[in-house]
Amino acid sequence: MENNHKPDTLDSLVNFPILLAPMVGLTHAAMRKSLSKFLPPDAKTIWPTEMLSSRKIPDQKLEELPQTIKWNGDTNLCPQILGNQETHIRNTIIKLEQWGAKAIDINMGCSVKKALRHNYGVSLMGDTEYAASVVRMAKRSSRLPVSVKLRAGHQKDLSYLLEFTQSLVEAGASWLCLHPRLSTEGRKGSADWSQIKYLKDNLSVPIIGNGDIQTSQDIQDMFEQTNCDAVMIGRVLTAKPWLLTEHAKYKGIKLTQEQEELIPNNAQERSKVYGEYLYDFVENCYDLFEEDDALKRVRFFVKVGHPGLNFGHKLYKEIHKLTNKDDLLKFLETYFKNSCLSQSDRTQLRY
Ligand SMILES: Cc1cc2nc3c(=O)[nH]c(=O)nc-3n(C[C@H](O)[C@H](O)[C@H](O)COP(=O)(O)O)c2cc1C
Repeated sequence: MENNHKPDTLDSLVNFPILLAPMVGLTHAAMRKSLSKFLPPDAKTIWPTEMLSSRKIPDQKLEELPQTIKWNGDTNLCPQILGNQETHIRNTIIKLEQWGAKAIDINMGCSVKKALRHNYGVSLMGDTEYAASVVRMAKRSSRLPVSVKLRAGHQKDLSYLLEFTQSLVEAGASWLCLHPRLSTEGRKGSADWSQIKYLKDNLSVPIIGNGDIQTSQDIQDMFEQTNCDAVMIGRVLTAKPWLLTEHAKYKGIKLTQEQEELIPNNAQERSKVYGEYLYDFVENCYDLFEEDDALKRVRFFVKVGHPGLNFGHKLYKEIHKLTNKDDLLKFLETYFKNSCLSQSDRTQLRY
């Protein structure tokens, strides 16, 4: 740890403000690698991990743990941790810094039972002072920037949300990401983007907006409606990776010739690009993970992505019948030649 070195800012880490969201079972090295092909050549973004338990990481081998395996082009990693105890947080962050983390994100949004039982994730949103102390614990552990990804809270109460986030900022959070749904909502209903704007209008740190992006127009709308500093996208990037290339084109950012071809113009092209993305993802999973784990991850990726495809349930069913890499790749080679899985612009995001 160098003492005279200034912590990075979001601005210095990101010049292309479209971010992949942290998602358990999805945002691992294979997905980062497949998606990175859609990022313009000089673009810099931050890349997440799945959420990592600070109770476990200190005793785990990061180069073997599926959640922290890296691919050889991994850069600008911003792993996400769950935690509420200083020793665990410190030991986790020190280890992640050696592993290559450029920033640490603290999860204050996860509402699964296990996180609630341990009093972290969105539970922290019930105690402003304790949540701020978690940020301070992280700040004391290293000079890496610390961010927080949070929800709208336990009940709709904008003044509480503002007071809560202000105290995170005072504690040293360098930026915040808001997924504006209540803890009770899971991923149901719709994300209330006006709350992203509310934080942006009232806080001094960069604000990342997240929730329900499905199209390039949605990205532009979120920027325009909320004035957020970056847009984070989760589920839909399992089905529409070209949202990155399309956004780059919209902004006039230079793409390679190959990347220009990754912007589909019609249903058939969308089907082709998705098929190639999935093929590449399958290869990456089998290159990076043990066989059983790779298969599990491929199935989950299709499970989350298939509602975005018309007749995606058929693909989902077929994929679930296959049990090894060769059969999966053989299947994908012919499936996308023979069928056009058109995509609706917008769908009910069911996962
Ligand atoms: C399968 C799955 C796993 C998720 N895991 C995490 C996680 O580990 N950490 C986190 O902060 N959010 C997690 N999320 C929430 C996403 O990061 C994101 O906030 C949410 O999906 C809304 O964004 P979207 O509409 O673009 O998908 C997860 C979401 C999904 C679908």
